[in-house]
Amino acid sequence: MSTQSDKLHAEAARLRDQIDRHNYRYYVLDDPEVTDAEYDRLMRRLEVLERDHPNLLTPDSPTQRVGAKPSEKFAVVVHRKQMLSLANAMDAAEMIEFDQRIKRFLKNDGDVEYVAEVKLDGLAVELIYEDGRLTKGSTRGDGVNGEDVTPNIRTIKSIPLRLLKPVRGPLPKLLEVRGEVIFPRKAFDRLNADRVREGEAPFANPRNAAAGSLRQLDPQITAARPLDIFCHSPGAIEGIEFKSQWDFLQGIKALGLRVNPLTRVCPNVEGVIAFWNDLTERRHQLDYEADGVVAKVNPFALQDQLGEVSRSPRWAVAYKFKAQQAETQVRDIEVQVGRIGSLTPVAKLAPVALAGVTISNASLHNLDEIRRKDVRVGDTVLIERAGDVIPYVVRVTRPGHPRSPEFAMPPHCPVCGAAIVHEEGEVGYFCVNANCPARMRESIRHFASKAALDIDGLGDKLVAQLVEKGMLKELDEIFDLTADQIAGLERMAAKSARNLIGAIDRSRNVALDRVINGLGIRHVGEHTARQLALRFRTLGALMDASEDELRAVRDIGDEVAHSIREYFDEPRNRDAVVRLARKLNIAPPPAPVEGRGALRGKSFVLTGALESMTREEAEQKILAAGGRVTSAVSRKTDFVVAGAEAGSKLRKAGDLGVKTLDEREFLTLIEG
Ligand code: IVH
Repeated sequence: MSTQSDKLHAEAARLRDQIDRHNYRYYVLDDPEVTDAEYDRLMRRLEVLERDHPNLLTPDSPTQRVGAKPSEKFAVVVHRKQMLSLANAMDAAEMIEFDQRIKRFLKNDGDVEYVAEVKLDGLAVELIYEDGRLTKGSTRGDGVNGEDVTPNIRTIKSIPLRLLKPVRGPLPKLLEVRGEVIFPRKAFDRLNADRVREGEAPFANPRNAAAGSLRQLDPQITAARPLDIFCHSPGAIEGIEFKSQWDFLQGIKALGLRVNPLTRVCPNVEGVIAFWNDLTERRHQLDYEADGVVAKVNPFALQDQLGEVSRSPRWAVAYKFKAQQAETQVRDIEVQVGRIGSLTPVAKLAPVALAGVTISNASLHNLDEIRRKDVRVGDTVLIERAGDVIPYVVRVTRPGHPRSPEFAMPPHCPVCGAAIVHEEGEVGYFCVNANCPARMRESIRHFASKAALDIDGLGDKLVAQLVEKGMLKELDEIFDLTADQIAGLERMAAKSARNLIGAIDRSRNVALDRVINGLGIRHVGEHTARQLALRFRTLGALMDASEDELRAVRDIGDEVAHSIREYFDEPRNRDAVVRLARKLNIAPPPAPVEGRGALRGKSFVLTGALESMTREEAEQKILAAGGRVTSAVSRKTDFVVAGAEAGSKLRKAGDLGVKTLDEREFLTLIEG
C-alpha cells in the first residue's frame, strides 16, 4: 500500500472512532462534547472520503446507519418505519443545488413546491395513536430501535392522550406522528440557574435538558419539567389519507396535535431561502432553540418518487443556521465558589464579539471537562453560545506556544483558604468552610435578588465589597448597615448610599414565600417556597415542620423534605433565621377563602403583563380565591388571563378553545 492510501485509511478509521464516540455521548449519555456543527463536519469529511475512495467504506461505518444504540435503561421499540435523518445544506448555494438535484431527478424544469419548517433543536420522538388513543411514545434511538418512554411522554401537557374527533369520518386506525420534544428557553435558563445554585452540573443546552428530562426512569421528574412538542412528520398511517406535507400538518393539527405555527408553503426554493433569512433574524426571539430550516418537497407523490439515499430522504434537507461561534484566547482559568461551596472553573478570555455581545468569560463546567478538552492558559479556543446561555468552550483550536502546564484544582479555597473536599468518583469540588466569604457573597446575592427580597441597588459588586470588608458576615446584617458605612465604600456617593438604605428598609415588608426562597435552601426555589408559605404560614412553623409534614406539601418529595430539615437542623442556620425574622416584617400569604364557588379548583394561566398588578399579586389573588395557577395552557386550563403582549399561550388558548379573560374581566371574576 502506498503511504497516501495508508494515510487515508488511518484518517477514515480515526473519523469513524470519533463519530462513534460522539454518537454515544449524544444519544446515550445526553452529554455531547462537540457542537452539532463540528459533528456535521466530521461526518461530511467521512462521507466524502468514502465516496471518493469506496475501498475505505466498512459495513459498520457510522455513515451506514442513522445513529447510536439506544440505552439499555428502557424497553426497545422497533419503529414500523425507520426514522430517518436529514442531509444538511450549509448555505444558499447548497440549497439551490439541492433544488436542482430534485428537479433533475424528477425530470422537471418547473418550480418544486416546498414546505419550510423550523428545524427544532430538541429530541426526536414518535407518538403512536391507535383508534385515537396514545398507546406508545418512544425516542428515535438509532432510527430503527427507539426507547419506550411512554410514561414520560404522557406527562407532556401538549401531547393529547386522545385525538380530537375529525369533522368527517372516524378516527384513524393507526397514526404514527414524529415530532421534536423541546425545552423552552426561559424555563431552561431557570432550571440551569437552579442547578448551578444547588451544586449540580448545568445542562449544556436545551436539547440536552429535553433529552435528560425525557429519558428519566421516574416520570415524576419528567412531569416537573416544562417540556413541549412540535409534531412534524408522519410514520406509519392507516385509515386516513394525506396528499402532502402541508395537508398532513393541517390534518394532525385538527386532530389536536401541536404543529409549529411558523411553518410555510413556499412555491419554490427562493421562498425557502427567504424564510431562512427571516428566521435567522428572529430565531433569538423564539422561546425554543432552532438550528435551521427544514425544506420538504410538499406533494407526497413526489416524495415517493424521490425516495431516500442511505440515511436520509432525497426530498428533504436541513438548511442550517450559521453557528454562533468565535475563536479567542484563554488568558486565565479562574475558580469561582458558589453558594453551597462548589468550585467552578471559568475561562477568562480575550474579549471577542459573538452574536452581538462581547464575551470575556466562558464556563468550563468542571475539572473533568477541562481535562477532556485539555484546555490550558494561552490556548486558542472555539467558544459557542447556544441561545442565551453562558458561552462555553467547545474545544482547543490552537494550543498555546509554549504550552502552559495542565490546569489543576487549587488545594485550598481560592477565596478563604479553607480545605477543598472532593469525593472519589464525583465531579464536584467543594470548599468546606460554611463561613467562606464567597459562599456568603453568593448567599447574599441570592437573598437580595428579584425573586427574593428584591433589594434594589444591592448589586454584585457592592455585595462583594461588603463581604470582603467584613461588613456582612450573615444575611441579617444587611439590615444593620448604615448610610455612613456604605458611603465609605468605593464608588459610593452619599446619595446612592442613602438610596440603598431606603431600599433595604422597604424590603423589610416582605411576603413569606420570598423570604423562604431567599434563604437559599437546597432544592427550594420560587415555586416550592410558595407552596411552603401557603402550608406553614410562618417561618417558625416551617422551621419546626417534620420531614413527614414537609412531604405532605404539594410537589415536595423525599429529597426536598430532607434538604429543608437538614437546613433547619443546622444551629447556625436556625440562629440566622431567627435573627432575620426579628428584623423583617413578614406577611403570610392571604388565607384561602373557603367556598368562593366560582374559583374553587379552577386553574389559571397568566400571560402577558397586567396593568393594575404584578404577576405575583395576580397569582396571590387567584390562590386566595381557591384557584390554582399553572404555567402551561392545556385543555384542562379553565382560564387564560391575557395581559399586554400576550403571545403563544393566548394563541394556544384559542387553539384549544380555553376561555380567555382580559384584565377587566379577570378583576370582575376575582372580586366577584
Ligand atoms: S423531518 C425524514 N422536520 O432533525 C424527515 N425533522 O436530522 C426527518 N428535526 O431527528 C424528520 N425539526 O427530529 C423534520 N421540522 C422538522 C424537524 C426535524 C427538527 C429533527 C428530527 C430529526 C433530525 C434530522
